[in-house]
Amino acid sequence: MIYLKTDEEIELLRENNILVSETLAEVGRHLVPGITTRELDKIAEDFIRSHGATPPCLGYEGYPAATCISVNEQVVHGIPSDYVIKEGDIVSVDLCTLMKGFVGDSAYTFAVGEVSDEVKRLLEVTKEALYKGTAQARAGNRIGDISAAVQEYAESFGYGVVRELEGHGLGRKMHEDPGVPNYGARGRGPLLKEGMVICIEPMITMGNKAVVFERDGWTVRTRDRKPAAHFEFAVAIRKNGPDVLTDFSIIENALNN
Ligand code: MF3
Ligand code: CO
Repeated sequence: MIYLKTDEEIELLRENNILVSETLAEVGRHLVPGITTRELDKIAEDFIRSHGATPPCLGYEGYPAATCISVNEQVVHGIPSDYVIKEGDIVSVDLCTLMKGFVGDSAYTFAVGEVSDEVKRLLEVTKEALYKGTAQARAGNRIGDISAAVQEYAESFGYGVVRELEGHGLGRKMHEDPGVPNYGARGRGPLLKEGMVICIEPMITMGNKAVVFERDGWTVRTRDRKPAAHFEFAVAIRKNGPDVLTDFSIIENALNN
């Protein structure tokens, strides 16, 4: 069941996704060698609560934290822990807010200090794959148009596209229909309509696309232990085209200051 949103509901979703963007910026400011991922999770949770929202990931199907923090070969759903961040790590921070009955959900992969040119390119290409998919998020297109755009762009660099996880609808619930795979065929899948809100979230690997699920029940990592990147944002399908509800410039401006 796909829920179409009114303009007012889209603005509430935007408010949430702006708070998610600001929370990601706050985490980014603290993301330096020596801090643990658990400390970063605490910073995010306090920030979310002090802005009048709650973190819906906490307790979701038993998930034990407010954020997912996935380092290097971890793709998504890394559980914050005593792991100490070090120079050269890449760190995906994925977090959600719940406020005024709606959810925000976005993720950003940060580089800690200097990373290799090879890893820098993985991050750039994964973010660009998200934008390529977003350009297809128009009424009259199908989910497969988004999926194919993400896949073709990422694979043109020789990267792997993770198959086991996908984007999703976003609204009063964190995960609504439709699913938004990062691979697929143009012209296939659910029809996109004005009022749909989806999260597009490419998970791209430097090596093989195969992943394994860790025994903690959550963490997904690459089988070959090569690095992976993950960017996610929320997009509303509007009359005039895609309307991105998350604002990565809030994060990127924080990093440059
Ligand atoms: N943004 C993540 C997702 O869409 C949120 C996961 S919350 C968790 O999968 F509780 F499942 F970890
Ligand atoms: Co998501």
